[in-house]
Amino acid sequence: MTETGMNRRDAPSAGELPLAGKRVVLGVTGSIAAYKAADLVRRLREQGAEVRIILSRHALAFVGPLTFQTLSGHGVFLDREEEAIGGEDDAAIRHIALAREADLLLIAPATANLLGKLAHGIADDLLSSTALAVTCPILVAPAMNTVMWQHPAVQSNLSLLQSRGVLVAAPEEGPLACGVEGVGRLADLSAILQRVVDCLARRHDLAGERVLVTAGPTREFLDPVRYLSNRSSGRMGFALAEAARERGAQVVLISGPTTLTPPAGVTYLPVITAEEMRDAVHRQFPSATVLVMAAAVADYRPAVSSSSKLKKTGQPFSLPLEPTPDVLEGVGAIKRDGQIVVGFTAETQDLEAQARDKLTRKRMDLVAANDITEAGAGFDGETNRVLFLTADGEREWTPCEPKRVVAHRLLDWVLRIRMRRGKGIPAPSVP
Ligand SMILES: Cc1cc2nc3c(=O)[nH]c(=O)nc-3n(C[C@H](O)[C@H](O)[C@H](O)COP(=O)(O)O)c2cc1C
Repeated sequence: MTETGMNRRDAPSAGELPLAGKRVVLGVTGSIAAYKAADLVRRLREQGAEVRIILSRHALAFVGPLTFQTLSGHGVFLDREEEAIGGEDDAAIRHIALAREADLLLIAPATANLLGKLAHGIADDLLSSTALAVTCPILVAPAMNTVMWQHPAVQSNLSLLQSRGVLVAAPEEGPLACGVEGVGRLADLSAILQRVVDCLARRHDLAGERVLVTAGPTREFLDPVRYLSNRSSGRMGFALAEAARERGAQVVLISGPTTLTPPAGVTYLPVITAEEMRDAVHRQFPSATVLVMAAAVADYRPAVSSSSKLKKTGQPFSLPLEPTPDVLEGVGAIKRDGQIVVGFTAETQDLEAQARDKLTRKRMDLVAANDITEAGAGFDGETNRVLFLTADGEREWTPCEPKRVVAHRLLDWVLRIRMRRGKGIPAPSVP
């Protein structure tokens, strides 16, 4: 199956369907949610994608190839190589040919079995062999019973896949086919489609940018075992790093301590204290074109840190604090023409006034402000709702959305600012 002459481009031009010229290979596996994949084919095509379908042997117990053949307008590839139903009849090695032509391998629904095979490099059928042969991004949309989903084996396979850069459209909570309610339902088709568009349509619009992202909390030590910190999980910064990498940027992620796995393809620099964060940012900033400060850096640290563990005395204890170095203020002073600096600010009152003041004082180009008293916004959650303010006076409130979506919105603003300036991407400064 070698089709040539496709018009391949990195990003659609204005007015064009977002997936025009893109080829999605859709793998469907043996889940009760397999019937939903038929609608997904229709919706992918509505967005301009060419769709090629591989049904696993077990998927065939749930759905028939004729539906997929009709909806995709192409032959459907089955597990056994000799059985392409209505497929182009050539002698190419199918998994290699399919892999070579793919802009994205989407597996929806993805069974626990498929995730396990992918994680461990097992290639015992057409879909898993194709997954090993692709060089394009892979997006999986798992669907299964809640207990299966929560099983440590499934979760560890998933983490392994994510650490290799496999994208995941996480399953949702709701009533499941097995009669229980819980996490495991195939992600909403609109959410899967959005991930596909994020991954393909915008894919290289940050090519050439060198994006420096900070994430997570810092720790300020009183003694070798105790520290002051905050509730930042690092999720917003990690989502930003991943989104920027997906869109073609070179990414450096400087993070305080978190439990998250750094996204694949990103240079990861772990730090602990505000001072280490400041030093790392100042080292990396000259070669960056964009800095996004999503870290929750401590404002104060203990004035004295004991080298031995402080003993309990039973007496009242007061802890003198001193300000930590302000990472952003220092950066504002060395910022070069063309570098774009973005900050986050978490506020509990006067959000817009406080954020605008910070934007001006710290010479930022864009600020993303959270009202952390709002449910679903700010620290330690999966979602965020922010107010974007630009140095040129624009403002945008986002809905409450997954942090990954907010990350893409922020990067869209960065691009808008870059284009408005019209000077192109600045060269790195030579130290
Ligand atoms: C009625 C039925 C429904 C199933 N639904 C799921 C499911 O939603 N998710 C899943 O991971 N496995 C499900 N399974 C189990 C898979 O079909 C089984 O693990 C199979 O080996 C998957 O093969 P495949 O990954 O090659 O398609 C189901 C099995 C049956 C009989």
